[in-house]
Amino acid sequence: MALFDRTSKIGFIGAGVVGGSLGVCLSRAGYRVAAVGSRTSASARRFAERIDGCRAYRTAQEVADAAQLVVISTADDTIRSVAEGMTWRAGQVVVHCSGAMSLDVFQHPVSQGAVAGALHPLQVFSSVENGVDSIPGTTFGIEGGPEMRTALADIARVIGGRPVFLNAADKALYHLSGVMMGNLLTCLAATAAQLWEQCGYSRAEGVEALVSMMRGVVNNLERSGVPGAVAGPYVRGDLGTIRKHIETLATRAPEVLPLYRELARAAVPFGVEKGALSPGTARQIEAILKSPEA
Ligand SMILES: NC(=O)c1ccc[n+]([C@@H]2O[C@H](COP(=O)([O-])OP(=O)(O)OC[C@H]3O[C@@H](n4cnc5c(N)ncnc54)[C@H](OP(=O)(O)O)[C@@H]3O)[C@@H](O)[C@H]2O)c1
Repeated sequence: MALFDRTSKIGFIGAGVVGGSLGVCLSRAGYRVAAVGSRTSASARRFAERIDGCRAYRTAQEVADAAQLVVISTADDTIRSVAEGMTWRAGQVVVHCSGAMSLDVFQHPVSQGAVAGALHPLQVFSSVENGVDSIPGTTFGIEGGPEMRTALADIARVIGGRPVFLNAADKALYHLSGVMMGNLLTCLAATAAQLWEQCGYSRAEGVEALVSMMRGVVNNLERSGVPGAVAGPYVRGDLGTIRKHIETLATRAPEVLPLYRELARAAVPFGVEKGALSPGTARQIEAILKSPEA
């Protein structure tokens, strides 16, 4: 017998942005999102109001009792304690949405006969509305046994996602790649935009100018991949420009210099791989980037 199908009742524990977005998408795709519970009853009610046939419950146990598939979409640090605070049925399915946590957080449900999995959307969620819009096209990192993988991959595909399967040992690395893109890229953009304040413009004007460039970067990556899309003075071998960058940062924004040096060094091997940079020029760039001042 399958672990669950579209007729199975689904319950969410944790009515935040990820739970809310998945709940709406699953319901629209024809799955029965029947139960929700959260730390506060206000969040659970808001979740239930978005989904026909969904009922808000007061406790996590009531949600689990009402559902075959239980999605624990609380913050990472509480997944284990939420699961440990409940009684599970044999054959019941428990899934979390964390990219960093593995399935060891579900030792308690598994010891009671439940089947554990993880379904992590590799996406940045800021609200349920934005989350619902961004799910189509999103990659979902899936963990679990063969049956679980098949069932969760079906869910991911039905809501427009692209499933990939992960081993526990690779999970943190996978998650880190998403954090570098979804979170640290934003920090890089914020740092770059802040430099505009020194040119007589506001940070917001910097963001406006750079966002359009970011779209270009995304298009180039989609069309040309790596190393094709990697560009700039490190790929062209513009030694004078790189020296000027370092001198300028050293005097006008020294706090940005270490970040610049490391990112620029990361670009050099891609320039060589692309065939645009000779190994000799690559060594010269490395030397300039390592020097205390250009
Ligand atoms: N945000 C992202 O971009 C993103 C992307 C991919 C995956 N994820 C993963 O998705 C999961 C949820 O993240 P999120 O961003 O949706 O977090 P979130 O918006 O902060 O939502 C977490 C929800 O869990 C509820 N909660 C907290 N403790 C609880 C408890 N003990 N019992 C029941 N409910 C509890 C909170 O309830 P109240 O609202 O009632 O206080 C909140 O609604 C995490 O595992 C996270 O790593 C997040």
